[in-house]
Amino acid sequence: MATPLIPLVLSLGLLCFPSFSSSDSLRAGSSLSVETPADVLTSPDGSFSAGFHPVGQNAYSFAIWFNKPTCDANSCTIVWMANRDQPVNGRFSKLYLLKSGNLVLKDAGHIIVWETKTMSPIPSYLKLENGGNLILCDMEGRILWQSYDSPTDTLLPSQQFNENSKLVSMRSQRNYSSGYYQLYFDTDNVLCLVYKGPEFSSVYWPSPWLLRWEAGRSTFNNTKIAVLDSWGNFSSTDNFTFLSADYGLNISRMLKMDLDGNLRLYSLSEDTKAWVVSWQAFLQPFHGKFEPFFLQPFSFSFSFPFYIYFPFFLTPNISPVHYQNDYFYNQNNSTPI
Ligand SMILES: *[C@@H]1O[C@H](CO)[C@@H](O)[C@H](O)[C@H]1NC(C)=O
Ligand SMILES: *[C@@H]1O[C@H](CO)[C@@H](O)[C@H](O)[C@H]1NC(C)=O
Ligand SMILES: *[C@@H]1O[C@H](CO)[C@@H](O)[C@H](O)[C@H]1NC(C)=O
Ligand SMILES: *[C@@H]1O[C@H](CO)[C@@H](O)[C@H](O)[C@H]1NC(C)=O
Ligand SMILES: *[C@@H]1O[C@H](CO)[C@@H](O)[C@H](O)[C@H]1NC(C)=O
Ligand SMILES: *[C@@H]1O[C@H](CO)[C@@H](O)[C@H](O)[C@H]1NC(C)=O
Repeated sequence: MATPLIPLVLSLGLLCFPSFSSSDSLRAGSSLSVETPADVLTSPDGSFSAGFHPVGQNAYSFAIWFNKPTCDANSCTIVWMANRDQPVNGRFSKLYLLKSGNLVLKDAGHIIVWETKTMSPIPSYLKLENGGNLILCDMEGRILWQSYDSPTDTLLPSQQFNENSKLVSMRSQRNYSSGYYQLYFDTDNVLCLVYKGPEFSSVYWPSPWLLRWEAGRSTFNNTKIAVLDSWGNFSSTDNFTFLSADYGLNISRMLKMDLDGNLRLYSLSEDTKAWVVSWQAFLQPFHGKFEPFFLQPFSFSFSFPFYIYFPFFLTPNISPVHYQNDYFYNQNNSTPI
C-alpha cells in the first residue's frame, strides 16, 4: 500500500526540496544574528542573499537582495524586506526559526518585530531559492510561508501578483519604510496604481480620464493574477500586458514600484553591470513626483459598470504609455535604489 504514496511525496518534494547546505538554509532551532556578517543565506546559484541589511544608523532590516551588480552593504539592490517599517538594532537582534515552526525577528530587547505566525508539528527549515523566494517548509515538503506571498516594492520573475498582493514604494531614497504609491488589484479586477497619502488617495493609472475598456483593461476576470515570466512577458488577468524591451531568457529582471510613483521594469545589463529600465508605466522622465493637486471634497460610490473618476486629478505633463506597442529604453532613469 505504500507504492501509491511515492508520486505524491515526490511531487511535494519538488515544491520544496529540503536542502542541508548551511549556506542556503536555516534549520529549526537556529538563528541568524545581525552582528555576524557571515549569517546570510545565499541561493544555490548565488543570485540572491538574505540577511540583515543596514537601513540607517545602527538600524537593520531583514532583507533579500541581488548579489549582482556586485554590492556592499550600502548599495545592494533589495527586493524584499521583513520589517521595513520597524528596523531593528545593530546589536543583539536575531532572526530565529523556532522549533515550533514560527519564524521570528527579535529586536535587541527581545521584542518581536516581525513573525510569520506559522506552526509545524514536524521540523521545518528556511531556504532561499534561486528565484529570490525565501521559503519556510516542513520536512515533508509543505510550504508554510514564502516571501513571494508578501512582496514589498518589487516583483520578481515568476512571482505571482494576486488580489492580496501590493507593491508599495519606499518612503524616500534613503528610507525603506512604506511610501505613498501602490500597485494593487482594485475591486473591479483591474491592476491599478494609486497614490495613498496621509489625507487622501487617488488612482492615477490606468488614466482616471478613461473608462477601463478604453484603457485596454477588462473588468470581467475576478481571478486577479499578474505575473512576469522569465522571458520578460508581463500579463495580467485584466488583459494588461507588456513585453520587456530586451525580451528574452537569462536576464535578471525586477518590476519595481518606484518612489516617484512610476512602475518600472529593470533589467540587469551584462555590458554595464547596471540596472536599466526595460519598461515603465509612464514614458515621461519624472523630475518630480506625482502630486495629485486637486481633490473634490466628496467621494462617490461607484456602481458597476460605470466608473466616474473626476475626483482625481494629476499634474498634466504626464502621459500614459500606450504599452501594447511602445518599447523604450531610458538608461537615465535606472536608479532602482
Ligand atoms: C523613515 O520614514 C518614517 C516615516 O516618515 C520615519 O518614521 C522613520 O524614522 C524614517 N526612517 C529613517 C531611517 O529615516
Ligand atoms: C484581451 O485582449 C485581446 C487582444 O488584445 C482581445 O482580443 C480580447 O478581446 C481582450 N479581452 C477582453 C475581455 O477585453
Ligand atoms: C481568467 O484568467 C485566468 C488566468 O489567465 C484564466 O484561466 C481564466 O479562464 C480567465 N477567466 C475568464 C472568465 O476569462
Ligand atoms: C505573454 O503571455 C501571455 C499570457 O500567458 C500570452 O497570451 C502571450 O502570448 C505572451 N506573449 C508573448 C509574446 O510571448
Ligand atoms: C540560458 O542559460 C542556460 C543555462 O545557463 C543555457 O543552457 C541556455 O542556453 C541559455 N539560453 C540563452 C537563450 O542564452
Ligand atoms: C541621459 O542623460 C545624459 C546626460 O544628462 C543626456 O546627454 C542623454 O541625452 C540622456 N539620455 C536619455 C535617453 O535621456
